Amino acid sequence: MTNNLDVIILAAGLGTRMKSATIKVLHRAAGRPIIDYVLDLASDVCERPPIVVVGHQREAVQASIDGRARFAVQDQQLGTGHAVLQASAALESDEAFASRRVLILSGDVPLTRAETLRKLIAEHDASGNALTLLTMKLDDPAMYGRIVRDADGSVTRIVEAKDANDEQKKIGEVNAGIYLFNAGGLFERLRNLGTNNAQGEYYLTDLIAVLRENGERVGALIVDDPIEAIGVNSRSELAVVEAEIQRRVVEKLLSEGVTFRNPTTVVIDSTVSIGADTVVYPFVTLEGMTNIGEGCVIEPGVHLINVTVGDDVHLKTGTVAEDATIEDEATVGPYAHLRPGTHLGRKVKVGNFVETKKAVFGEGAKASHLSYIGDAEIGADVNIGAGTITCNYDGVNKHKTVLEDGVFIGSDSQLVAPIRIGKGAYVGAGSTITKDVPPGALALSRTPQRTVEGWAERKREARAKKE
Ligand code: UD1
Ligand code: CA
Repeated sequence: MTNNLDVIILAAGLGTRMKSATIKVLHRAAGRPIIDYVLDLASDVCERPPIVVVGHQREAVQASIDGRARFAVQDQQLGTGHAVLQASAALESDEAFASRRVLILSGDVPLTRAETLRKLIAEHDASGNALTLLTMKLDDPAMYGRIVRDADGSVTRIVEAKDANDEQKKIGEVNAGIYLFNAGGLFERLRNLGTNNAQGEYYLTDLIAVLRENGERVGALIVDDPIEAIGVNSRSELAVVEAEIQRRVVEKLLSEGVTFRNPTTVVIDSTVSIGADTVVYPFVTLEGMTNIGEGCVIEPGVHLINVTVGDDVHLKTGTVAEDATIEDEATVGPYAHLRPGTHLGRKVKVGNFVETKKAVFGEGAKASHLSYIGDAEIGADVNIGAGTITCNYDGVNKHKTVLEDGVFIGSDSQLVAPIRIGKGAYVGAGSTITKDVPPGALALSRTPQRTVEGWAERKREARAKKE
């Protein structure tokens, strides 16, 4: 971390190659807008909040970043040089600025490692360069700016792909879009840039030639792993970035003691945490603010969105949960659906084909088979029989079901809310319960059974006679 640095992040361009109504930097990879990864990088190397240059959809970008940056506005996207210049008002007023350095990052280059930026800073400081930039070597240099070096290997200029001649197009070393400038004189030079190029834009990259003409030194650090400098300009690049972040997430979790039966099949957002000794089976999707404790088993096809899971929890095949909490030693599924507001206490068991919504289960409560439990408060050690339904909706309003501790609900019962079943009470199987049941009582609402002896035999004989 250094205090002698300001960071500018360029994020004003729409990104037309994304073919999207949403600005490029707000497209998500592993659950976060791609610019979030760049903001993380900035805060890894610089104490002061970065200046983000916004333009297209700036309200949305500012709202998304909220509080993590200062902003400069670029009303018209006249090029990367023009974009950097928009940060001048925010920076030049600070007297110390001219003696600092400026790190320029692109909001669409999210895979750079902080370690690499630290190397860039160290190299810049050791070299006496006016500018040190990050480059990479690619087999297919595609649309990146080509790095032109002279006979002694020093960087003389960058030629954009659209401006390159056939010889230059063959250059495999390209511009990663990450630059460390000495701050003094930067904005004056940007004010003097022209637009004499194929795109009629103010190119930031033209500063290299300007510095060289001034007799200043320009250096380049080649990244070992070109993926660090991949820019998201198209959906296909976004897919590459997503895959790489996923790979890093899994790698980190493996190093923290998580077991993956088949790590290439899982989808895990970068916002997710998993404790040691948890085993994750194939085809698991974990999204948003999902935090899983230690020693859990997450079976195939589990899908969690913003779910807090304690320790030693067993989530069986096909369990789906959103905005829910599952405490230690609970068992869920297979094929259970925990909807928002579900809270399962310790050692709760929710079995196959059970749906819950806004339901709080006390310690040791069980709903093992085929139930719908909504808007409910379930006490400790309650046993809910197969096929039980809370009838929580009267067509207009939702009503609450309260089952006090130790209640036993027989199979195939309907509990018509609002309703309260007192502590330790029983509901007989097949009942439709519409009135509160006091503690310790038995409530039954089914019609008494009638048995007609010999009925089947008589029916068969009557049919035979007719034929
Ligand atoms: C740029 C570089 C190219 C480099 C590549 C690396 C220039 C002229 N070219 O090309 O050498 O290989 O990045 O990824 O700099 N932006 C603005 N305002 C503008 C224009 C762009 O804020 O007026 C922002 C974009 O939102 C984006 C970043 O600057 O975040 C880069 O712009 P982009 O248009 O993607 O430049 P490239 O063509 O990729
Ligand atoms: Ca780009």
